[in-house]
Amino acid sequence: MNIIIFDSGLGGLTVAQAVGSALPEATLHYVADTAAFPYGDWEETALAERVCSVADTYIKRLQPDCFVVACNTASTIALEVLRERFTVPFVGTVPAVKPAAALTRSGMFSVLATPGTVRRDYTQALIDTYAFHCDVELHGCEGLADLAERKLHGETVSPAQIAHEIKPAFVERDGKRTDVVVLGCTHYPLLLNEIEAAAPWPVAVVNPADAIARRVAQVMPEQLRGASERTASVTSQTGLAFSKAIEAFGYSHTECVDVVETTA
Ligand code: DGL
Repeated sequence: MNIIIFDSGLGGLTVAQAVGSALPEATLHYVADTAAFPYGDWEETALAERVCSVADTYIKRLQPDCFVVACNTASTIALEVLRERFTVPFVGTVPAVKPAAALTRSGMFSVLATPGTVRRDYTQALIDTYAFHCDVELHGCEGLADLAERKLHGETVSPAQIAHEIKPAFVERDGKRTDVVVLGCTHYPLLLNEIEAAAPWPVAVVNPADAIARRVAQVMPEQLRGASERTASVTSQTGLAFSKAIEAFGYSHTECVDVVETTA
């Protein structure tokens, strides 16, 4: 059983970890599109094309049984086109609005995500469908994904930087306040302790990684299970600087693979 888990950078490792625990016999290949990181500010059409090019390059190379888009920014714009263009099953990652709506007691919850995910019609549609009765604060974090990458690279991330990024997600209004915060970017669980420490008051933090892993397990046919291996790729030479951080998650080696740009 051969699964690709893909993100713009290292955030998808939080999903890969959950998939690895749910399916210990699966062969996982982690792909970080370091040449294009961060996805948060990309224009939508260009990003959808980039994601299709990454998928095309790696599907040809590895013929996966399942392709996990472990990135909210990519999933909310490209899942539909990926499913149209390729036959492999895709599992996406989109902001956990439905679980948050079920969890909130105050009726006020927030979604922390990249500016791209916050702008998406897809995200608004999730809110309109599952959280129309809630007071939802969507907050686009300019630099939180980058801070997560820096942390994995061994740099110090200050509590003030985290507090600055997350503060707008904590809202007090009409005697109520935010009691649930959704991590709508797969990079953010890498900073879970820092986010909890910087929170102005305690909240339930929703990390969708386990739910995504359960979905992958549903999609994978039982008979494909076999010997497990963990390998990784980045899409730029500079991305190889992250090899050590990736390998700390259990990957045996990291290679650099150029993405072949395709157009529809
Ligand atoms: N990890 C990505 C996500 O889940 C985005 C990070 C970025 O490239 O901006 O949205």
